[in-house]
Amino acid sequence: MPSVYLQTFGCQMNVADSNALAHEAWSLGCSFTDDPRDADILILNTCAIREKAETRVYGRLGQLKTLKRPGSRLLVTGCLAAKDREIMREKAPWVDALLGPRDYRSFKSLLTAWGVPTDSPPPETPMRLPSAEDAPDADAPAEYAHLRALVSITRGCEKFCTYCIVPYTRGPLESLPPAVIEAQIRREVRLGAVEITLLGQNVNSYNYDGLDFAGLLRRLGRIEGVQRLTFLTSHPHDFTPRVVDALAEIPTVAPRLHLPVQSGSNAVLKAMARLYTVEEYLDKVAYFRERLPGWALSTDLICGFPTETEEDFAKTLDLVARGTFESAFIFAFSPRAGTPAATMTPQVDPKEKLRRLQALNAAQNEHTRRFCESFIGETVRVLVSGPSKKDPSRMAGKTGHNLTVVWPGDGRTTYGPFVDVVVEQAYTWGLVGRVA
Ligand code: SAH
Ligand code: SF4
Ligand code: F3S
Repeated sequence: MPSVYLQTFGCQMNVADSNALAHEAWSLGCSFTDDPRDADILILNTCAIREKAETRVYGRLGQLKTLKRPGSRLLVTGCLAAKDREIMREKAPWVDALLGPRDYRSFKSLLTAWGVPTDSPPPETPMRLPSAEDAPDADAPAEYAHLRALVSITRGCEKFCTYCIVPYTRGPLESLPPAVIEAQIRREVRLGAVEITLLGQNVNSYNYDGLDFAGLLRRLGRIEGVQRLTFLTSHPHDFTPRVVDALAEIPTVAPRLHLPVQSGSNAVLKAMARLYTVEEYLDKVAYFRERLPGWALSTDLICGFPTETEEDFAKTLDLVARGTFESAFIFAFSPRAGTPAATMTPQVDPKEKLRRLQALNAAQNEHTRRFCESFIGETVRVLVSGPSKKDPSRMAGKTGHNLTVVWPGDGRTTYGPFVDVVVEQAYTWGLVGRVA
């Protein structure tokens, strides 16, 4: 039976897609390998969100060209496969096939065309998920890797923020039927998952025959066995008090919200076509803080967006310095060919973008550390992800706020899915403690 090598770049959406592709290949009898030299079929699931992401993919494609055995096939999937369909034929002609995120229905027929038989009995060995370069549980040992499951509730995005490539690579918005979502969650729980992350580029735009995201949350909040429910990502324009009210009613929902603001300047938000002002964003945050005290708010920020002046930037810096967010992912603007922002003028000088990036990171780190310090002396419930990657003599896991916690391994080889840890030290990256 053919052996498959699958590597994933990019966001959790790509990880979820990789899982689905892997499951299809497995059900046809394929096995998996971590070594590209052993594989009959190599799959690279790719990302195009920023230039750096693309560079990494092309770098890896160069390596795979020399690693792959003669006669084996190389398939590129994901957002870069959709974006660079033509370019890739020139830059990486050794790629045998491309499937963008909207083409996965043809995956099976492609495998068949490559000689994978469709009439073999289901494999006897259980499916082992292939490792994912950027996945949260990249190298988690098998007994922990399945505890957290990703479940897509929407596909695509039609917000067309002016900097973003995603609507072009993933296509228009589509909401999945609630029965399909429920069935997948139940399957994941049967396989051992205790944490479910609902996925969509903007989960708040979910709408299936009038069932909105708040309604869906209420319905999913009742599924037995889900001990932590969370979701990614929310667009502030569609994040309503109704959603906050639903979250307040669901006991298993994890106390964290990711609500990307992107900029603290209304002029920049307008140029980004984000459809809200800073004031509107802060109003929504105020209601969220009132109804859900103790939750962690995280955000995404872009600095050096075209037309961003020193004054605009100062407003973003101020928003961060005021401690609006418990954590933030901060990016320098990266022009994406074909998006409106790529040709807006004036563009910000790369050196200046870097300076702004560093200033924002420094300001946010201060608050992230303080938030972490607020847990010193407390007992936190941690979802175990296995031995720490940096120091395997220590164990690591995540709190409901999504903070990393590390504690000394005490000789135990198995932990329950959750363990209580008393926090002794706090850093920007997370917490250190001992088992309570
Ligand atoms: N759907 C999500 C975002 C997906 S992309 C949302 O709307 O929140 C994740 C983050 O990457 C974005 O929030 C944005 O901050 C960043 N990003 C997207 N395009 C970018 C670009 N061209 N340059 C820099 N950062 C970008
Ligand atoms: Fe991109 Fe905007 Fe859609 Fe998010 S909401 S995926 S940033 S276009
Ligand atoms: Fe990248 Fe596509 Fe996700 S561009 S961030 S893999 S939606």
